[in-house]
Amino acid sequence: MIKMDIIFRPIGIIHTPYTEKAPYQPVTNDKGIFYIEVQTNYIKGLQGLEKFRYIFVIFYIDRLKKKGDINIVQPPWVDNMKVGVFASRSPHRPNPIGLSIVKLKKIEDNRIYTSGLDVFNNTPLLDIKPYIQDLDAKIDANYGWLQFNNRDDKEHLLLHIKGVPH
Ligand SMILES: C[S@@+](CC[C@H](N)C(=O)[O-])C[C@H]1O[C@@H](n2cnc3c(N)ncnc32)[C@H](O)[C@@H]1O
Repeated sequence: MIKMDIIFRPIGIIHTPYTEKAPYQPVTNDKGIFYIEVQTNYIKGLQGLEKFRYIFVIFYIDRLKKKGDINIVQPPWVDNMKVGVFASRSPHRPNPIGLSIVKLKKIEDNRIYTSGLDVFNNTPLLDIKPYIQDLDAKIDANYGWLQFNNRDDKEHLLLHIKGVPH
């Protein structure tokens, strides 16, 4: 077993309209202003990022309330289903790191404006990476334990998975 403490420092802050409730996953056409404020000492590190249409946003999920068994989670959008934390996108995990893929709209100085993000306002930003066609999109990806029966079912279930009221 590796025993070590790892210290990360935020490289910025994520701004969203959400204070207590956010979608479970990013909603591309979500209403409101979403932007990432990168610390000014990292502005040079944004060079070239504007050329990408999508980015990975990696953040620290800083306001979690204590839960029971860290290994088992119950997805909030489905009844009576329990899965292992590493087979889920639950925020309640041993290392509460979140990963969201969003559309990059524009960069102005140290602000990156994006499509909807699934985080609370002022969530600490850990990293940004470009999302690259072919490297990151796997055309043979499957749905694991998520049960889609048909196309209509899939569209509807996706609204539940993302936490979009409908
Ligand atoms: C299910 S997680 C998914 C995050 C990311 N898309 C992922 O897959 O890693 C998103 C949920 O985390 C919670 N959340 C977002 N920001 C948070 C924060 N700063 N502290 C605590 N919980 C947060 C909200 O309840 C939101 O619905």
